[in-house]
Amino acid sequence: MNFGIPLNRTSAVYHQQKKTMKLFLENTIRLSQWLSADVKAPFPELYLAGGAVRDLMLGKAPKDVDVVCKNARTFARRLTRGKDMALVPMEKKPDVPTFRIVDRNAPDRVLDITEMRGETIQDDLYRRDFTINAIAVRIGNNGHPDDVIDPTGGQADIAAKIIRNVDGSAFESDPLRILRAFRFAAQLEFAIEPATEKNMQASIMLLTRISVERIVSELLLILERPVASETIRRMDATGVLDVIFPEILPMKGCPQNDYHHKDVWGHSLLVLENSENILNHLEMFFGDRSPLIAANLGECHRAPLLKLAALLHDVGKPSTRGLNLETGRITFYGHDETGSAMMSVITERLKLPVRDREFLSLLLSEHLHVLDMSAPNVTWRTLMRWFRRLGENVVPVIVLGMADVQGARGPASRPEAIAAYSDWSRRMIVQYDDAARRQLAQRNLISGHDLMKLGVSPVPRMGDILKHVRDAQDVGDVIDKEGALSLALRMLRDISA
Ligand code: CTP
Repeated sequence: MNFGIPLNRTSAVYHQQKKTMKLFLENTIRLSQWLSADVKAPFPELYLAGGAVRDLMLGKAPKDVDVVCKNARTFARRLTRGKDMALVPMEKKPDVPTFRIVDRNAPDRVLDITEMRGETIQDDLYRRDFTINAIAVRIGNNGHPDDVIDPTGGQADIAAKIIRNVDGSAFESDPLRILRAFRFAAQLEFAIEPATEKNMQASIMLLTRISVERIVSELLLILERPVASETIRRMDATGVLDVIFPEILPMKGCPQNDYHHKDVWGHSLLVLENSENILNHLEMFFGDRSPLIAANLGECHRAPLLKLAALLHDVGKPSTRGLNLETGRITFYGHDETGSAMMSVITERLKLPVRDREFLSLLLSEHLHVLDMSAPNVTWRTLMRWFRRLGENVVPVIVLGMADVQGARGPASRPEAIAAYSDWSRRMIVQYDDAARRQLAQRNLISGHDLMKLGVSPVPRMGDILKHVRDAQDVGDVIDKEGALSLALRMLRDISA
């Protein structure tokens, strides 16, 4: 098999190619296992194509083995007939049927068989999105790789790290490809070729026709990257972000007070960058507690969602903008709650799961309050109440606060305040980890039931009383049931008096 690149045994490229060859063989051997399971050879013309070939050529193990042939359904049925395998019809691309075969005895063994578009593999490749995804490798009857078919110069673009559309109409046929281009640019660290970017720009309004689920999935893949902010800035420059989030339009050019050196949108982009910088250097910001932050944000897309919150944390500012006539300062009173409500609307439109919607709205509603918490006169009781209310979400709220403070460098903001807030954040994480979590995990010393057993009849403020007792428990003012009951009874007496 020839990749069309001359081999030079001393070069790094040679070693990369040897690795690539090995991966190719391993993966096609995986494929030949499927084929040998089917006794009725010969097989139709089979091609390994798309992302699998791209990844193999980059020396990476592909996520799925993707095979293209004619009459995909019939071939997939032939492979599964009489075997303990599931055949799952899918639509990886719109209007292109794929049949996923899963070995029930080894669910990791998966093979995707996709219908060839057009008469020949070249026809099929010309309908694909990017040249780097439009390379096929013919698979012989023994399941081994044969010729490379690369009609659009994908191998050269892989070598040059370029994302180039196969055809100028690629984005009209499927506007999601606009986001895919950005996603591949972010994941592979490739550059989007200028003419391709122009074509993308010309089609951005077509994104409104795409299902939000597909958009969100690409957006999260982008935000998951360690330096997503660069891609987000490029997306902003092409106008893609305005289409997905029209709410950001009024943020652009919206002036702020003298704590800030940027307008609302400029500040938001900076806060995204800052949050990414914090996440990429947890050890520097949180020392030995960085594993706690990493674990907290490492699941359920919490890190990419935190970045989305950073980008939109001030979405409520334009509509709450006012002027304090005494100080002459621009104000944004209530922009946290307004922003949180706007975030609910955005995330409902994007059909995010309820858990993610609540997480994002909470980050927006808490992004100012966390700054109040860092004031010197805040008591441990108030902090414990805050920890209790936020639970594990205290971690992303603190990180967002840090990123926000670091992004406000106007003449009225003091550079020491940034360092002081960072210190406070680190201390808070330590206190949360060392003391608050354990304390909060303890059961309530008393319940309403305990009070009723003492003959106290339910009163409207019973809930408040129990909450107060819990606060006292959290800060160690009461340490046993007896103490908790006498505090509750004292409060009841005060109410009745
Ligand atoms: N494809 C396309 N247009 C799309 C989606 C996919 O042309 N909107 C083609 C590309 O050739 C792509 C292949 O279908 O390589 C497989 O698509 P998919 O599995 O979605 O993406 P991959 O390229 O495999 O990348 P990844 O698995 O990392 O998403």
